[in-house]
Amino acid sequence: MDKPSVLVQLDTDALPSVFDRVVAVDAGVAHTFSYGGVTPENVTPLVHGCIFTRGGKDLARTAIFVGGSDVTAGEAVLAAVRKALIPQFGLSVSVLLDSNGSNTTAAAAVRAAGRHLDLSTITSLVLGGTGPVGQRVVRLLAKAGGKVRVGSRQKDRAEAVCARVRAHVPGAHAEAVSVGTSADAPDALDGCQLVVAAGAAGAVLLPKKHRAGAKALRVLIDLNGVPPAGIEGVELTDKGTARDGLLCYGALGVGGTKMKVHKLAIAKLFESNSAVFDVEEVYNLALQLP
Ligand SMILES: NC(=O)c1ccc[n+]([C@@H]2O[C@H](COP(=O)([O-])OP(=O)(O)OC[C@H]3O[C@@H](n4cnc5c(N)ncnc54)[C@H](OP(=O)(O)O)[C@@H]3O)[C@@H](O)[C@H]2O)c1
Repeated sequence: MDKPSVLVQLDTDALPSVFDRVVAVDAGVAHTFSYGGVTPENVTPLVHGCIFTRGGKDLARTAIFVGGSDVTAGEAVLAAVRKALIPQFGLSVSVLLDSNGSNTTAAAAVRAAGRHLDLSTITSLVLGGTGPVGQRVVRLLAKAGGKVRVGSRQKDRAEAVCARVRAHVPGAHAEAVSVGTSADAPDALDGCQLVVAAGAAGAVLLPKKHRAGAKALRVLIDLNGVPPAGIEGVELTDKGTARDGLLCYGALGVGGTKMKVHKLAIAKLFESNSAVFDVEEVYNLALQLP
């Protein structure tokens, strides 16, 4: 008989996320062990606790989830987790990174866009492209091959994101654009078929009047779930809803897919003891959804 599944939740925040723990229960995990305040410096004994307890095929019944509100901190913990695993002797467990829901949300958003557009040829604008979710959206869109504009109120922050994305996606067509004032909108939107708004909760990033001249626009995706909308005119529950000739998705419209992707990723962790799910792998799971 299979041993019960154990998910070890390594959270970079002081208090481990309740959200991530509830999703683990709903994904069918038998036991979730939650640890807060996890850093690269203190993670090794936690990883060793995973790999030195069960052996052989039973190791696939233990997995690690890296979360917390700070994606950069999560990335550092993921790197330290991988360093502490000893795969050459089969002493490994599967790992999922989803700090702040960034990977699952970005995967769901880009999956939605890909239902309507050829992502390898389009030009996209990612507003709030410097945040955890926005950066992952930029990375996936760049990987798909299209041109991506990274919008920020401070262009140098967007430029830093473009550099980070190019490190993951060599040859990425990523360009920093300033979106600090209404005068910036025509240039930022010029020739764009897709806008994804990944700005902070409650911040209006794209008022209706700013997109009046954006003739190429086809799809609007607003990830902000706290009114007012990040893209004026997009409703929270929109899911491929036609409005003024554009196909719209709101935060709840994307959120349903995000939850499915999150649960699928947790379930996949227990299929082997060697998988690592970062944004590209999570997106591949999103593509499997009907
Ligand atoms: N639908 C879902 O399932 C789901 C899941 C997770 C998260 N979310 C939502 O996704 C969005 C992005 O999350 P996140 O954690 O990446 O966001 P975040 O870090 O809070 O903010 C993203 C970016 O928004 C910009 N920003 C901040 N305050 C602003 C303001 N007052 N006006 C204009 N821009 C502002 C900043 O960029 P610059 O300073 O560079 O301009 C910031 O880097 C949030 O709205 C979050 O609630 C949705």
